[in-house]
Amino acid sequence: MSVINLLPSPHQYYTLAASLLQSTFDNYTRRPIEKRVSPVDFDVDVETGFFPRSPLPRLPGVFDIWEGALSDASDKLSLGEDDSEEALSKRDSGELWRSRVLSWPVIDTAPLHSNLRLLQRAHFVLAWLVHYYVHSAPSSAEDSAFVVPQSLAVPLVAVSRQLGIAPVLTFADTVLWNWEVIEASEPRSFENMRFGVHLFSGTEDERNFYTTSARAEWRGIEMLRIIDEYNNLPNLSDLTSISKVARDLGRLTGIINDISDIIQAVRGVVDPHVFYWDLRPWFEGSDAKGPDAPGWIYEGVPDSKSLDLSGPSAGQSSVMHALDIFLDIDHKLRQRRSPAPSDSNKRADHGFMERMRRYMPGKHREYLASLAATPRSIRELAQRTPALREPYDNAVLALKKLRDLHMRIACLYVVTMSRTTPNAFAACPVAHAMERMQRARASGDGPTRGTGGNELSLLLKAGRDATRRAVLKGN
Ligand code: HEM
Repeated sequence: MSVINLLPSPHQYYTLAASLLQSTFDNYTRRPIEKRVSPVDFDVDVETGFFPRSPLPRLPGVFDIWEGALSDASDKLSLGEDDSEEALSKRDSGELWRSRVLSWPVIDTAPLHSNLRLLQRAHFVLAWLVHYYVHSAPSSAEDSAFVVPQSLAVPLVAVSRQLGIAPVLTFADTVLWNWEVIEASEPRSFENMRFGVHLFSGTEDERNFYTTSARAEWRGIEMLRIIDEYNNLPNLSDLTSISKVARDLGRLTGIINDISDIIQAVRGVVDPHVFYWDLRPWFEGSDAKGPDAPGWIYEGVPDSKSLDLSGPSAGQSSVMHALDIFLDIDHKLRQRRSPAPSDSNKRADHGFMERMRRYMPGKHREYLASLAATPRSIRELAQRTPALREPYDNAVLALKKLRDLHMRIACLYVVTMSRTTPNAFAACPVAHAMERMQRARASGDGPTRGTGGNELSLLLKAGRDATRRAVLKGN
């Protein structure tokens, strides 16, 4: 950006000078950042953000057995709870696939530990296999835990510990690492990436769901640059810097609005029925049926009950967390802000966002921790600098609007769909089986649940309201 662009107009000069004067009266001193925190140190790329620069390499040698099973899975397996004709036709091949996995040795992952991309690939392959294995099994008695065989569980836990990520399917496995280059000779760009290399349902809706999440994540890369530039401004006490911060908050608002549009566009490309009935069941983790359900046991893993085994969620998108941290959104209700939290806000799961960080690659989580540790709160700066209040509030209000809109999407795709039966089968002879499936899905008995079995509407409303409370005007 040219220096000229950073220079304010005479009117802005006046406002900014007044702002700075007020800052001084407020006795506001900013501590410089002692050590430059570089995103690259946290495997966050300047060009591709939280995506690796290239697709993950296929696993070599002895690990190819896992790759082979993943390549076979979508042809051989169907959802265990699906009694449609097509699903039933895959029962035998599914049985064989699962018995092979059961007979595998526990492979030592040590040879992969020195290579980050191979470790990520191992996580990707094994996490997909675990979800295939669990959800293709015929529905069993609700009161017994599901045993994930040690041939999958032990290596998945081993690579997850190396990566600092939960040993289960995550946002990284379905979005960040689930793509290939379309045309190798073309430059790197979002348009040159094909998402959904692996799909559970094989539907275009599923591919579009991953692509939508990826597009939002990709749009957020510019946001990471804005945050980085803010944290590395030499000072925040001159007109040029304050002017730049004001402009960047404006850019940030534009990016948040774009992400809202991206999320909204999912309605045109993902059928809510397909999402709810054909895709979402594959994502379910150990606690999807609520805190009292028996869940999964990872065979051969000591203290398997303490593992983080919820499924994937865009709540694990590091870009969204970076934005929350930058704008100082208080999901945990630690600050006294107005309006005061409602009763339903207080009942919501305040630890959700923090827990979701355990499902991110460890380096990305560390990056977020480093952002949270910076002494430069932009909210505080805006509070004390009148010229920044409105740009800051605009960004927060854009994020609140995003969460309002996202709530409507989640309501349509999850809450409304939980009250339907799969249309396509309603009139066929196995309709009663479908009803059984619906009852099983709704077996949370009561509120619709999201990732980790949380109460969905309470959670999303609390996130929206926490965002609203960051607004400075009236506070
Ligand atoms: C069909 C599209 C989508 C549906 C049905 C959906 C549904 C949900 C649900 C049910 C939750 C609650 C937590 C959970 O169960 O995981 C959630 C959380 C979340 N989703 Fe989505 N989502 C969709 C698309 C997206 C996209 C494209 C983004 C991109 C940024 C996104 C960002 C988030 C975030 C950040 C959370 C955490 C809660 C919050 O920040 O308010 N979602 N979503």
